[in-house]
Amino acid sequence: MIKLLSHLSYVAITSPDVEASVEFYKTQVGLTEVDRVDGAVYLRCWGDYYSYSLVVLPGDEATLATMAWRTSSAEALDKAVQQIEAAGVTGEWIDAHKIGRAYRFVGPYGHDMTLHWDVTRHRAEPAVASIYPDRPEKRSHVAGAPRQLDHVTVAASDVDGFAQWYRDVLGFRIMARTELDEAPISVFSVLTTNEKSHDLGVVLDGSSRAGRVNHYAFWVDTREELLIAADVLMERGTGMEYGPSIHGIGEQSFLYYREPSSMRIELNTGGYRNYVPDWEPQTWKPSLGSSNLYRNGAMPMSMTESFPAADGPSATEEGVPDEIKDALLNPYTQHG
Ligand SMILES: [Fe+2]
Repeated sequence: MIKLLSHLSYVAITSPDVEASVEFYKTQVGLTEVDRVDGAVYLRCWGDYYSYSLVVLPGDEATLATMAWRTSSAEALDKAVQQIEAAGVTGEWIDAHKIGRAYRFVGPYGHDMTLHWDVTRHRAEPAVASIYPDRPEKRSHVAGAPRQLDHVTVAASDVDGFAQWYRDVLGFRIMARTELDEAPISVFSVLTTNEKSHDLGVVLDGSSRAGRVNHYAFWVDTREELLIAADVLMERGTGMEYGPSIHGIGEQSFLYYREPSSMRIELNTGGYRNYVPDWEPQTWKPSLGSSNLYRNGAMPMSMTESFPAADGPSATEEGVPDEIKDALLNPYTQHG
């Protein structure tokens, strides 16, 4: 198969209070507002190469409206659409803002995905144009402001089924997976379209709502910037939900916090590059440090909250022995 996808290009999220969310992204995260169209607010990191990487839309609750990947060529876009439709999923061609022709579909676990080849490259206004030729804009003045969008982690009722569908249909490489210590239940997996350790993650969703998202992530260049971002966010009243620390899987430095809609944001840096085309994913256990390299801290229970909020008891919990229900609900907890 030809290489279909090249990288995550933008995420669109909904917020019950768009103005509060946008203000947070501008003043606390360090993004720049670039456009407003029909209630949608388009934002970008200083180092994003295209017009925008985040869209905030009005909605009743925090959700992932779509996650968008740029294909590797125009031909790859057509091939990807063939693959999707051959797998029994039908989407629609749309005209995306400052992108143009794009194909939008809902995957088998309810996640809205947009694929496109065309883009509008960012051209900075003279006042913020970088003195360096390769930079799309000057470095942000906001301490710890991310350079670019990094990845998105969704929630699905069948982690391995999700990973295999996106591998088989769209060519993602599966990089790692986590099973509970207590039982062979797959609770987490990471996939990538490129040499990054992942640009798509999936956590087990015990709820009956399809298409949920756990978090999305921005990239900073260095661990020092990540620690400064944590410090500045704390000083300005935004608590750290988890971290700063280092993931075992992927070996990225991370921290998690929430924006006003309650949506979880991750800052990420470091980690390995992996160029192996036929990589064979290893199976981790939480006790091996899958989420925390140092194996010395439990992930808070709040990290299992995905968006929008679950609306009822989990269908997938049925038949699960009581002794592992807690672990199923909190797949990241360090066991042992
Ligand atoms: Fe993440």
